[in-house]
Amino acid sequence: MEFGLEGKVALIAGGSQGLGFATAYALTREGADVSIFSRNQETLDNAAKMISRNNRGKVHCIVANLRNPNELEKVVEKTVEIFGGIDILINNSGGPALGSFMKVTEQDWLDSLEIEVMGVIRLCRLVIPHMKKRGGGRIINITTVGVKKPQPGLVISDATRHFINGLALNLAVELAPDNILVNTVCPGPIMTNRLEEAIETTSQHQGISLKDAEEHWLNLIPLHRFGDPKDMGDLITFLVSDRGSFITGDIIQVDGGKAVA
Ligand SMILES: NC(=O)c1ccc[n+]([C@@H]2O[C@H](COP(=O)([O-])OP(=O)(O)OC[C@H]3O[C@@H](n4cnc5c(N)ncnc54)[C@H](OP(=O)(O)O)[C@@H]3O)[C@@H](O)[C@H]2O)c1
Repeated sequence: MEFGLEGKVALIAGGSQGLGFATAYALTREGADVSIFSRNQETLDNAAKMISRNNRGKVHCIVANLRNPNELEKVVEKTVEIFGGIDILINNSGGPALGSFMKVTEQDWLDSLEIEVMGVIRLCRLVIPHMKKRGGGRIINITTVGVKKPQPGLVISDATRHFINGLALNLAVELAPDNILVNTVCPGPIMTNRLEEAIETTSQHQGISLKDAEEHWLNLIPLHRFGDPKDMGDLITFLVSDRGSFITGDIIQVDGGKAVA
């Protein structure tokens, strides 16, 4: 299938590992150039090496923290300076603090609002003018399957991501005349550092072994296996490609059926 991504430029938040990296890998495999950022130079360098070794698209990496507005401005400026513009924005992060409502703290909520909510708003505000200059663009928000079915113990993640859904639906309408398409993808349990952390938290909170905690998570998934980050990379590739040009304002889960179980 031809995706038409050659010459496109994607900015990927949290692009060094997990779902962000899988997306960067998938897009560069199809010829897009990517600018990835996260907080750690070493993991960024490893990600860039793996991409450059195997894929057609170019990669540039920048150390930046989603909670820092000045750093986000620099990321966008640098990406435009290096690649000439931005066509695709992938809003992604490491995910908020885990825990049930009475366990998480006020600071945990504030951190998530700063990173998972304001981070998305700030990046959209910075990138949309560049997309308009290019005659269109694609915005993808990576949130969680918890927006379709609540996940006990992940209250901050489920709650803050509803904000992003609302934002995305609104932007999909507002930006349609500019040919900017906005969609949200909702991962279920996909094997990354974040899921490992969630399994460890379940083990600690329920006082069960790691193996039993893993089984607990598997039992929530009708397909009874964890997803591969590539599953997310492939869906996003389709959505941002020419093939996905009539899809906007959608909220799509990649979860092995967890939301409907
Ligand atoms: N994997 C799943 O099963 C699953 C399920 C539901 C929802 N999600 C959501 O999907 C998103 C991605 O999850 P993931 O599994 O890919 O997580 P991950 O493997 O932990 O990767 C997170 C990425 O974000 C970067 N990052 C974290 N905090 C950052 C910050 N403040 N500023 C800039 N970059 C930052 C990390 O690099 P550094 O740490 O080096 O900065 C890393 O590159 C999260 O929002 C998560 O809640 C995942």
